[in-house]
Amino acid sequence: MTDAPAPSHTMPTFSGDAMTGQTEPLPPHDIAAVQLADEGLRRIEWAEREMPVLRLIRDRFVRELPLAGLRISACLHVTTETANLMRTLKAGGAQVTLTASNPLSTKDDVAAALVARFGISTYAIRGEDNATYYRHLNLAADTHPHITMDDGCDLVALLHQQRRDQLSEVLAGTEETTTGVIRLKAMAADGALAFPVVAVNEAQTKHLFDNRYGTGQSTVDGILRATNILLAGRRCVVAGYGWVGRGIASRLTGMGARVTVVEVDPVRAIEALMDGHQVMTAGDAAAWGELFVTATGNINVFREEHFRVMGDGALLANSGHFDAELDLVALTRLAEGHVREVRNDVREYDLGEKKLYLLAEGRLVNLGAAEGHPAAVMDMSFAGQALSVEYVAQNHASLARGVHVVPAEIDAQIARLKLEARGIFLEAMTEEQIRYTSSWDQGT
Ligand SMILES: NC(=O)c1ccc[n+]([C@@H]2O[C@H](COP(=O)([O-])OP(=O)(O)OC[C@H]3O[C@@H](n4cnc5c(N)ncnc54)[C@H](O)[C@@H]3O)[C@@H](O)[C@H]2O)c1
Repeated sequence: MTDAPAPSHTMPTFSGDAMTGQTEPLPPHDIAAVQLADEGLRRIEWAEREMPVLRLIRDRFVRELPLAGLRISACLHVTTETANLMRTLKAGGAQVTLTASNPLSTKDDVAAALVARFGISTYAIRGEDNATYYRHLNLAADTHPHITMDDGCDLVALLHQQRRDQLSEVLAGTEETTTGVIRLKAMAADGALAFPVVAVNEAQTKHLFDNRYGTGQSTVDGILRATNILLAGRRCVVAGYGWVGRGIASRLTGMGARVTVVEVDPVRAIEALMDGHQVMTAGDAAAWGELFVTATGNINVFREEHFRVMGDGALLANSGHFDAELDLVALTRLAEGHVREVRNDVREYDLGEKKLYLLAEGRLVNLGAAEGHPAAVMDMSFAGQALSVEYVAQNHASLARGVHVVPAEIDAQIARLKLEARGIFLEAMTEEQIRYTSSWDQGT
């Protein structure tokens, strides 16, 4: 581990620490308005009520300090749930720095509370431009992290592309989302990944619940908050029938929408069909749909040829990681400058013969126009993050460079704690059943 100097920022004011009641200087930060701290604190505490697993982990971390002496830089969506994860890591003894993983998903009051109530260094301003985003990412890297945490691989990519001298200081990392894991696997395949990274997304207690139920519900929430449309009877197109797409399609169906799925994978497409949805090509779906939601992790899923055949008033939203799933360059070109904001998070593109509406600038609509996943779901994902950080802190020396799965015991522990927090206990196999299921010579 190296001892890096703290970033040189002014720390002029004093604040209360929500956990200890003590006053201490504000940590280095760049946020919208520190005055929002009290509102942020109330909302962080509200989320915490729904996060019993993370609370239990925090209680243990306070006693055991498994992260003592470690510097952690996290590039995650700055939400109430992330704030509770950051508190947990700090309680474990780590020096934590947080930077936004998406310019639109930052909740400014949460950033303020992290800085002024929890003493956690935070770099995030909702709506920050690209230059500010990367300046913030670099500030997080300036702390010379021992452990990186990513949601989309931006911090790991920065270290590998522009700050290679720091690579040897990093013990390990964690990655939250599908898109980040795909990038990491590509780096590992090229022999380029310089340290071990645990793919939290691959944990069953992550993607089965977060991607499916969390994104499913919060994507619909974002669309409704932005537009207040009626979903019952509406023709909705979901592109991608992975964990996220399945969740969105099932929630839209639950609200009475008619759903068509666009897929490139035949197995996923047949699954969509048997789940009761229609399956079409993007071209056919473009002419059919009224609301379009992308969740593929791919680029230009809907593009000029599709915008041309969409009907007047069609709504476009994305819930995949990057804002590249809709070809916004083509959309802007087709509108020839006739673009205006018509509501918060709704932008109108006037194509002359019709108008198309883009939600949340084509960025993750569940985070841009709503509050992201419900805390109860993030409780499991972030329990996976906290336990994975503890795991890499203890085991980094024996982990090879590359992408690692979350150990099965961590998955089982999270699921068990979540059930127990709800007063639900598991059946246990009898001795006879254990013998039966582990033998090969007993038939019917
Ligand atoms: N909004 C959120 O909060 C949130 C949460 C979790 C994941 N994500 C992101 O959502 C995206 C999807 O995640 P996932 O876990 O469902 O991934 P996944 O790999 O399980 O599913 C993606 C699906 O898209 C399909 N696909 C790829 N290209 C396509 C194309 N051109 N047209 C139609 N289908 C195509 C693939 O065949 C696959 O079935 C990723 O970018 C991920 O990072 C977002």
